[in-house]
Amino acid sequence: MTPVSDQRQQTERQLQADGIQAQVDELLRRMTPAEKVGQVTQYFYFRLPAGAATEPALGMDPDAQPLAVKEALGRGAVGSLLFVTDPAEINRLQRLALAGNRLGIPVLFGFDVIHGLRTILPVPIAMAASWDVETIEQGQAVAAREARAVGIHWAFAPMVDIARDPRWGRIVEGAGEDPFLGAAVAVAQVRGFQGTDYGQEDRIIAGPKHFAGYGAALGGRDYDEVNLSDTELWNTIFPPFKAAVEAGAGNVMTAYMDLNGVPASASRWLFTEVLRQEWGFGGFVVSDANAVRNLVTHGFAADPTGAAARAMAAGVDLEMAIQDPAYAQLPEALQAGAVGQDVLDASVRRILEAKLRLGLFDNPYVDEDRARQVLTDPRHREVARVAAERSAVLLRNEGDLLPLDPDELTSVAVIGPLADSPRDTLGPWVFDFDLDETVTVLEGIRRKVGDRVRVESAPGIPVVQRVFASMFDMFGGNRPEDPEGFDAEAELGRAVDLAGAADVAVVVAGEWQNMIGEAASRSSLELPGRQLELLQVVVGTGTPTVLLVMNGRPLDLRWAAENVPAILDIWYPGTQGGAAVANLLFGDVSPSGKLPFSWPRTVGQVPFVYSHTRSHEPQNQGRRYWDEPSTPLFPFGHGLSYGRFTYSDLTVDRPSITPEGTITVSVRVTNASDREAAEVVQLYLHQRHGSASRPVRELKGFQRVTLSPQASQQVRFTIGPEHRRYWSTTERDWVLDTSISDIWVGGSSTAELTTTFEVVRT
Ligand code: BGC
Repeated sequence: MTPVSDQRQQTERQLQADGIQAQVDELLRRMTPAEKVGQVTQYFYFRLPAGAATEPALGMDPDAQPLAVKEALGRGAVGSLLFVTDPAEINRLQRLALAGNRLGIPVLFGFDVIHGLRTILPVPIAMAASWDVETIEQGQAVAAREARAVGIHWAFAPMVDIARDPRWGRIVEGAGEDPFLGAAVAVAQVRGFQGTDYGQEDRIIAGPKHFAGYGAALGGRDYDEVNLSDTELWNTIFPPFKAAVEAGAGNVMTAYMDLNGVPASASRWLFTEVLRQEWGFGGFVVSDANAVRNLVTHGFAADPTGAAARAMAAGVDLEMAIQDPAYAQLPEALQAGAVGQDVLDASVRRILEAKLRLGLFDNPYVDEDRARQVLTDPRHREVARVAAERSAVLLRNEGDLLPLDPDELTSVAVIGPLADSPRDTLGPWVFDFDLDETVTVLEGIRRKVGDRVRVESAPGIPVVQRVFASMFDMFGGNRPEDPEGFDAEAELGRAVDLAGAADVAVVVAGEWQNMIGEAASRSSLELPGRQLELLQVVVGTGTPTVLLVMNGRPLDLRWAAENVPAILDIWYPGTQGGAAVANLLFGDVSPSGKLPFSWPRTVGQVPFVYSHTRSHEPQNQGRRYWDEPSTPLFPFGHGLSYGRFTYSDLTVDRPSITPEGTITVSVRVTNASDREAAEVVQLYLHQRHGSASRPVRELKGFQRVTLSPQASQQVRFTIGPEHRRYWSTTERDWVLDTSISDIWVGGSSTAELTTTFEVVRT
């Protein structure tokens, strides 16, 4: 086992220097057992939005719950709260907490700040598609600034779960299938939230989640069990978590499901051995919602006392509880010797450290006037727009239909029920949004072309409903206002007429936002409802058609990929989504996003990755099924541009290196077009032989470059032992093999420019 990392030692030294350790020691000395248990308990403070369905959300009684929390606050039995975003309410609750706590320990407020608080950024999978770590960092810095301004101290983000099965709805919250990209995106997000220290102004604690393996749910069914080999855990699932921890993340969240037969939330191996002992994580661990109490539901713990003892002993410091925390039973567990006093003290210590580092003891309240100003800061909207522009992926552009030239157009038809839906434009996992200021695709196009071009719009088909409702529907779901009043045939006819009479048709199709996210798994990847039919009739008019895909997962676009000339994946682009889309459509900016996952043709191919091993009969890799090519519809890393990039002069600075050696790879990238454009240059590596079979290609480097027309640039990558080391099943350890390796550099995972180098022991 490697020793506790330098990072933890550094943090400890810093805490000593700041006198935080001494303060914690003093508090711990004075705290009663009940007060300690209070600190390790986090409650939802959940007020249903006005007009929300009154059915019990998350299995709780919505009327009783706030009262129960207030009562607990009054007796100093709450360490943390979640789900409050109103600064006045946060101040009120903090006052209650401080009045109820004789030691003056403030409450820590956490929230799902996933892709923005008031300024909604594109969904995380979209941000990852930008492959732009600066933009990602900036985006989360905006989110942190808004969150901190209203009194939120901690984000339950980034979600760094690798997702290789798009049936799983939470693929939208992560960075896709690849551990290297996932790690880079994780680091950028942690930096965005925390800056160099979350104690600074406008910063909050980042909480990478869900440790670990949640994305591999059996059958893509959210919450179902996960079985992962050690090689997958170490090489694929863990790298983004490790990177987030090394970047200083202050918190980690557990995962709901069973991992290899044990609830992840009670895995001592995960939280104590890997996270703390091996990686030196010094922050605090929170359970996912109710995951401690649910150790009983899983058929793992006999009762809540056993659940509390086993979770705490595993290393779960704080219980996120919807109601009736299991950690309330900790005194009993302590008495029975099922968990040690030192273990509870260590957990309390970590939580108090975080509160002190945040400066909460000195400054527990927020300035409500300042909060209002921060939430409306126009610079934040600007960051959101740029992020939406950089994350869109141009999947296809036959005959250079895009960009559109407004001077050549007299009319545009904007078709589809998602084209003018502010709530869907924002995507899932937002709660504090402002629909009035959200720019839809229709609105964005109208604003861009003004009176010069006639813009008409029709939904064509009605809003589609989930077969099983979502608990998230209460936060602004997709209930049509008047489903009865929608004349389906007449509306379809109107859409076709508008498209037929226009110079260009823009169809917006995808999934409604409540069809993706938590508890939003699917058994198919088809466009829900009659959207494919709508697209087909629009294309059938003969009017040149652009398809804008609004999604958080790959959808079955086989028909579109052959019949629709231009396809732009706009994801759920956020508050400024429509403005960004208009800039892309009309060529103010060139698309530059790249797919963070392999886009399957059909659901039958999933789980699906580009980084598979060669295995048997690699020459038939594309013919693994007899009824459909087993290749992707669009490969990992794919994304077109209005520029035209060519690659040449791929070289390595030496033909061979030792296992610990480093090699420099250079390539020349040229923009052979008359437009400025950005390109994501990607480097893939393959080791030909070794102590385990290695993937045919693995991403090991990427750089985003912006090139003027006809400009060219040399791009350099360094490949060191950290890029070649992997966990080998043969050795049951990390290895650095001697081998010949191939390198490819280009604009996607199918890059053809290649060279080799050798790793030799001298
Ligand atoms: C999700 C977490 C989330 C938590 C709090 C859970 O259901 O799995 O990702 O942070 O709720 O909202």
